[in-house]
Order: sequence, then structure tokens, then C-alpha cells
Amino acid sequence: MHEHVPKNYLRMLTLPWAHLLLLGVSLALFLSSSSLLSLMAPVLLPAGWLLMDSYYVQYIERCLREDLWDIQKTYMEREDSHFWVAESEGEVVAIVSAKPCPVIQMECPLELAWLSVRWSHRNRGIARALSRTVLSFAQQHGYKAVILDVSMVNLEGQRL
Ligand SMILES: CC(C)(COP(=O)(O)OP(=O)(O)OC[C@H]1O[C@@H](n2cnc3c(N)ncnc32)[C@H](O)[C@@H]1OP(=O)(O)O)[C@@H](O)C(=O)NCCC(=O)NCCS
Repeated sequence: MHEHVPKNYLRMLTLPWAHLLLLGVSLALFLSSSSLLSLMAPVLLPAGWLLMDSYYVQYIERCLREDLWDIQKTYMEREDSHFWVAESEGEVVAIVSAKPCPVIQMECPLELAWLSVRWSHRNRGIARALSRTVLSFAQQHGYKAVILDVSMVNLEGQRL
């Protein structure tokens, strides 16, 4: 998750509301005669970065506390969910999970989540293989669909 911070930050800077905010704050600082306020101008961009970074860190910590704290309990003790790892030379190099989508629908699809491959092992088809494993699991358990949430900036994920 954390590797997506720079891409998300750059994308945020391209959004019209971010331009308006930066323009508005810069204008306000320019018009104000307070020297304290004018000192704030150069810290706006790094402050935005830190805010986004801390949002991601908090999200990751929350997931580690909740969903991923006890993988055995969250994923392995139920028939309709599962968690897989890929190993290479005795080390875990990739993970993926599957569990029923939390959204209550007539036909609840299976959600593929936490798909992540270690940098050193990317572009070797590991994510593709893990996704196939999840699709087989879904078929065996009678699911009609599998969903995967991918952010707009995650081009590798979209390609997958
Ligand atoms: C997304 C991710 C799981 C892909 O893992 P991977 O093992 O490198 O992917 P694979 O080698 O199985 O490749 C699967 C497809 O994605 C494409 N792909 C992978 N990395 C890519 C990249 N950097 N740029 C463009 N396409 C890429 C591959 O070309 C392949 O498509 P193809 O068969 O049509 O050529 C990995 O980059 C990752 O862990 N990212 C961080 C975690 C994340 O974003 N998870 C959410 C994933 S939805």
C-alpha cells in the first residue's frame, strides 16, 4: 500500500480542486500582511505529502490490527474465505486473500484482496498465478463473480 503514496500524491496535484486550494491559499498569504502566514507558503506541498503519508500509515496499521492480525481466524476457519502465500527458497514472496464481499447484495461476490508481490519477484507471473488460484477457489465454492478493487494510480494492478 505504502508504495502508492508518491503516485497518489502526484495525481492529487493534477486535480482541479488541489489547484484551487493552492491558488486560494497562496493568494490569501500574498494578500495578508502577516509575516507568520507568509512563512507557511513553502511548507504547503510537503505538508500535503505528510498528510497523505500519515493517512496511508494509519490505514495500514488499522488493517494490520484488524484483518491481518490473526490470519488463521479471519481467513482459514471459514469455508468461504482463504489466504495464500507464495514461497521462494523458504521465504514468503507474495500474498493474496479471498473472502465474501462485505457489501450485502443478492449475489455476494468473492473479494480478492491483499494481493502483493515482493519487488524482487515481480513481473514473473506470480500475481497472475495467485489470481488464478483465487478464481479456482471461487468456482469451487459456487461464486458467480470475483471483485478486485484497484486504485486509479495503480497501473500494474489494472493491467493485472
Ligand atoms: C500488481 C502486482 C501484484 C503485480 O504482481 P506481479 O507478480 O509483478 O504481476 P505478474 O508478473 O503476474 O503480471 C500480471 C500482469 O500485470 C502486468 N504487469 C505487472 N507489472 C507491471 C508493470 N510494472 N507495468 C505494466 N504491467 C505490469 C504484466 O505484464 C501482466 O500482464 P500480461 O500478462 O498481460 O503481460 C505487484 O506489482 C504488486 O505487488 N504491487 C503492489 C501491491 C498492489 O498494488 N496490490 C494491488 C494489486 S491489484
